[in-house]
Amino acid sequence: MSIYTSNGSPPFNTTRASHIVLTSKDLDKTRYFYETAIGLEVTHQDNDSLYLRALEETSHHSLVFHQSDEPAVCKRMGYRVYTDDDLNLAYDHFNSNGINAIFVENPFQGRTLHVNDPLGVPLEFCATMEQSPSLMQTFHKHHGACPASLDHVQIATHDVETALRWYSDLGFRLTEYTADDVTDEVWGVWLKRKNNTQDVVFSAGLGPRLHHFAYNVPEVANIIHVCDVMSSLGLAHTMDRGPGRHGIANAMFVYFRDPDGHRIELFTSHYQFIDSDLTPKRWSLTDTSRSQLWGLPATERWFYEATNFDQVELKKPLLNAKPVTLESFLEKT
Ligand SMILES: [Fe+2]
Repeated sequence: MSIYTSNGSPPFNTTRASHIVLTSKDLDKTRYFYETAIGLEVTHQDNDSLYLRALEETSHHSLVFHQSDEPAVCKRMGYRVYTDDDLNLAYDHFNSNGINAIFVENPFQGRTLHVNDPLGVPLEFCATMEQSPSLMQTFHKHHGACPASLDHVQIATHDVETALRWYSDLGFRLTEYTADDVTDEVWGVWLKRKNNTQDVVFSAGLGPRLHHFAYNVPEVANIIHVCDVMSSLGLAHTMDRGPGRHGIANAMFVYFRDPDGHRIELFTSHYQFIDSDLTPKRWSLTDTSRSQLWGLPATERWFYEATNFDQVELKKPLLNAKPVTLESFLEKT
């Protein structure tokens, strides 16, 4: 089977997944979870919004919450492009291809382009954000998981093949993927612009929905320590999966659910994927080591619960593949 390949000369230069915009019913509860327990730095809070970033980040924010009394949603996923010229190229590219893209003004970041991908995911691209020194070497303030930087998001979508094609045309590279052994249908794609295995993952499911966003932490000890921290803060019940190690991308991981149910992954040990002669790694849908090299499978809720995007219609997946869940695994043993 030949898999769709990346456009080596994309219409504009996207550099990385940059930020996530979510809603929260209670910004103070959200702040406690992310600042006190996870270890992110708060860079701004007012009555309506909360902005956070990780320890290596000099840009103003990688995680934004807007207060809302409605059920929590993801309002937008943010990417960085290299320069403002790339924003103009992106504007021209989308609008000349019949995709409505508009410039907006957002606090703490430069000119920002809003557009929806063909799956319905609301995106924004910007080239710049306000900069200030990070806490990277302010070691006495490090706590929780000591998260270093936002790394990637995973999105459930009804149509993974369309996601692969659209993002590949924008220059994203496929690093790993899962496919059906018989039909070759693609179930999940790990796509990247920066130097490691992923900026965005699309997996088959009711969508589009945000499955999780992930921060990179410096070492495995941070993964274990944050579990202890969650316990001592009375937040052990927020643990959603792990710790464990994914076969795909080699990540040592743990997942938590925040006060509104948004899922955060903390992980370490992705690998570099840069050279032009590297080829994507294929995994079989029947190979459970893709999800965990060791340990028990994830629960059904990990597979099926996710955050809706704001006012975006949900569609049933074109490819249905039953995952091996903890519940189905225990039934068989
Ligand atoms: Fe992840």
